[in-house]
Amino acid sequence: MDENKKLLITGVSGLLGNNIAYYLRDQYDILGLYYMHPIQLKGISTQACDLSNTEKLSRIVDKFDPDIIIHCASLTDIDACEKDQTITWEVNVKCTKHIVEQIGRSTTKLIYISTDAVYDGEKGDFSEQDETRPKNYYGRTKLQGEIEVLKLKNSLVFRTNIFGWNVQNKESLGEWILHALKDGKQINGFTDAFFASIYTFELGRIIDMSLQKDLKGIYNGSSGDSCSKYDFALKIADRFGLDPKLIEPISIKDFGFRAERSWNLSLNVEKLSHALNYRLPTVNYSIDAFYRDYCSGLHERLKSEQISYPKRNGFISYGGQWIDDDDIASVVNVLRSPWITQGPKVEAFEKALAEFCSTKYAVAVNSGTSALHIACLAAGIGDGREVITSPNTFVASANCVAYCGGVPVFADIDSETYNIDPIQIQGRINKNTAGVIPVHFAGQSCEMETISEIVSKAEDRQSSKIWIIEDASHALGSVYKGTKVGSCAYSDMAVMSFHPVKHITTGEGGAVLTNDETLYRKLKRIRSHGITSTTEEFIYRDQAGSLRVPRNSETVNPWYYEQIELGWNYRITDIQCALGLSQLKKMKQFIRRRKEIVRKYRQAFQGIDSVTIPYERPDGNSNFHLYVLMFDFEKIDISRAQLIRELRQGGIQTQVHYIPVHTQPFYRENFKTRWGDCPNAESYYERCLSIPLYPAMTEADVEKVIREITRIAI
Ligand SMILES: Cc1ncc(COP(=O)(O)O)c(C=O)c1O
Repeated sequence: MDENKKLLITGVSGLLGNNIAYYLRDQYDILGLYYMHPIQLKGISTQACDLSNTEKLSRIVDKFDPDIIIHCASLTDIDACEKDQTITWEVNVKCTKHIVEQIGRSTTKLIYISTDAVYDGEKGDFSEQDETRPKNYYGRTKLQGEIEVLKLKNSLVFRTNIFGWNVQNKESLGEWILHALKDGKQINGFTDAFFASIYTFELGRIIDMSLQKDLKGIYNGSSGDSCSKYDFALKIADRFGLDPKLIEPISIKDFGFRAERSWNLSLNVEKLSHALNYRLPTVNYSIDAFYRDYCSGLHERLKSEQISYPKRNGFISYGGQWIDDDDIASVVNVLRSPWITQGPKVEAFEKALAEFCSTKYAVAVNSGTSALHIACLAAGIGDGREVITSPNTFVASANCVAYCGGVPVFADIDSETYNIDPIQIQGRINKNTAGVIPVHFAGQSCEMETISEIVSKAEDRQSSKIWIIEDASHALGSVYKGTKVGSCAYSDMAVMSFHPVKHITTGEGGAVLTNDETLYRKLKRIRSHGITSTTEEFIYRDQAGSLRVPRNSETVNPWYYEQIELGWNYRITDIQCALGLSQLKKMKQFIRRRKEIVRKYRQAFQGIDSVTIPYERPDGNSNFHLYVLMFDFEKIDISRAQLIRELRQGGIQTQVHYIPVHTQPFYRENFKTRWGDCPNAESYYERCLSIPLYPAMTEADVEKVIREITRIAI
């Protein structure tokens, strides 16, 4: 029996990629690549791949060795593409180029899914010979993608417009109309915008036929006829037995789109029809097929076959990890290896982390809290010496000082940035000050340049060291004045946390970064009982081996180690570090996704009187660990507790970051702190609420959060 041909589909979590994979899975051996949204369909393999990562793409293509690639991955939101042109170019053009380069001179066939938006929409009935004149950035990038693809002689381009069943919580036009009408909602339909939309499974059939005939070149691959978007909505209402009166006829000119639209995108499909000897389906036929599949429950089957990690069952937590197949495979590989702790992955993770932050050294430990503790120990904090930190943080930023016998001192925050105020630090420095722990709240860097200047001047005055330990638990990937947070450009050490709500996770975990070799060695020792196996660090060298003054490990007794100070067991496992390594590779995607969500939040909330959105420093680039809204609860006439409960009932979790640490009973009892010590942090606390923000949020999640908060806050 012949083996199935191998088909690689990019954008397999998107509407078309997914539906085509489903349609073709019996005929082909399929590998689907997704960017951020893990999916699995029975009978096909899927894998995460950022197509801009040429190395990874190349590995996948070499290994899978596909006969055919269907390149569906693309940014398609026309207005978002107009706004974020850099990302759109990267995804729609550069990634397409990468795929073309991968194929090179091989015989792999490339099918590129292009769009009707390459035409200007002026005359309608466009044939492939007509001049292309895209009206918006989306159309321009797709056209450039075509140019790249057509450099390969064997390639095939379909200009199309599709509707169908999404597996993710997104809606194609057909689904949007159907759901709105079913909910009895009034919708608008453009009477003067024409298109030739085709049902995804019908396009799947056409792609399959084109492969049998080995078509090459450019084809219009849409419905054989066209209709206005208003008529399209009416047809759906008619087929599904829904109320057509809910559809309001309007003109596209009355609608304020950001990007210009082509208004008549009816396509001439004669070329394809002739090449396949097949009459392309009409819009009515496509809607019939859409309806039949709905009745057979296909739309639900598609969703139920999907696997994502973790399954959240509709609940939107305030934060949470992103774990995909690559992460799982990395962990499983370690579990199958001889080293599950104290092995090579720990060092590899530390090296990768230091590189990522542009620092010399990283010491990974089992939590951010342990990292803060060993940083304080390495700095020699203790004996009642004071360390200044922010009240607007998790208790660990201050607890680490108390662990060592030091005294945490709280300096108030700046009301605009919610970060520790350098002037307040200055006012609290005295002869007994041993350190400062600035916390980069929510991912936005503190004013580190000013802090380090204040500290240097104080050091000169009192001629003793004042350590700066950045609590960068929120800020992996953030940038401050052109330097990466974690690079220790303005500090002695920086601490990261890898708890699941943070940017990357190792389950639990943390790290200390430093450029100082002496600190690095000390941190490594304290992480593991204060023990060293490094010859140069031995105190009793004569006990170490047969030679009196051992200079290198070969002369040292193989069993020998020394405990030269008191340390802890704060070691992290190789299992965790394998996960960390795999997560770190996705940082660019993680931050990009967080920023996309923040853009939507900013747009939605900035005009609302009762809500203040976070300030963003012009000289920094936050990674957006948290998105904190400040509410005027009096104005909206609802308490914060009621708001939190109401949102939770609707399936949305929010969180308060933070109860000022100096108001905690432990601090009031042991360090004589009081309400009133830090008025800015206290009044911030009265009004703040962190809303959900993490890469695994779907578009529908984001929209739901916006909808619910806007409903309550307006
Ligand atoms: C600012 C800050 N510092 C330290 C920590 C402690 O990190 P971990 O939970 O990894 O111990 C956290 C954790 O949430 C934090 O938010």
